[in-house]
Amino acid sequence: MSIYKAKDYKELSRKAANIISAQIIMKPSCVLGLATGTSPIGIYNQLTEWYEKGDLDFSEVSTVNLDEYIGLDTANPQSYRYFMNTNLFDRVNIDIHNTNVPNGMAADLEGECDSYDNLIHMLGGIDMQLLGLGHNGHIGFNEPGESFEKGTHIVSLSQSTIDANSRLFESKEDVPKKAITMGIRTIMQAGIVLLIASGKDKADIVRDAFWGKITPEVPASVLQLHKNLIIVADEDALSKSPVTDNYTVLR
Ligand code: F6R
Repeated sequence: MSIYKAKDYKELSRKAANIISAQIIMKPSCVLGLATGTSPIGIYNQLTEWYEKGDLDFSEVSTVNLDEYIGLDTANPQSYRYFMNTNLFDRVNIDIHNTNVPNGMAADLEGECDSYDNLIHMLGGIDMQLLGLGHNGHIGFNEPGESFEKGTHIVSLSQSTIDANSRLFESKEDVPKKAITMGIRTIMQAGIVLLIASGKDKADIVRDAFWGKITPEVPASVLQLHKNLIIVADEDALSKSPVTDNYTVLR
């Protein structure tokens, strides 16, 4: 795994956006796995800025998002489809038909999960998967205790995730209790995994996930086994991890 230490969120966003840009430039028809949440917003702003300057072209790129709440339609500002449209897709020259987010309103939710894995397969797999990191170690909505073997599936959100995500809703009661998420197997099959973490509140989980033991209790810890894991984190998020240099390669 390689680790880039950024001095702050702005530098983290720029470095991670650089890595995604390199992927798009090297393979214009690449498949990007994308994430929502607070962490990637700076990356999406940076990618948009470079697109506006004429330095990036999304016309052949396809995307697959990690997850979506069950029961929120795409017009709901809290839905992940809405988030992706407003933060990235509507701002760059991507073909919206090439963007994919699980459908949390599907009549057959199990069927939706199977179709999502088939879609990823039909696209030829994910070239680069962007991930944020939950305080409990979740990636996508794969909560502690989740089997490493699963593809896309339905999950019940843990109380800590509901609490953390309630900041984006009017009240805790409004946070959906279920979601569709790519499974850990799906994530581990990506060619490159790019994980970002920012802030002091992520310092414990960054240390436990990447310097602790590999266990389903810390879902992100399985990424230690990924052949091409890149972590971009700021000094605060790395403040409890044994990383001294700005760029470190382990194993
Ligand atoms: C988002 C996702 C989540 C977030 C994680 C961190 O699509 O799947 O796993 O990446 O909850 O969220 P933030 O970035 O808001 O701290």
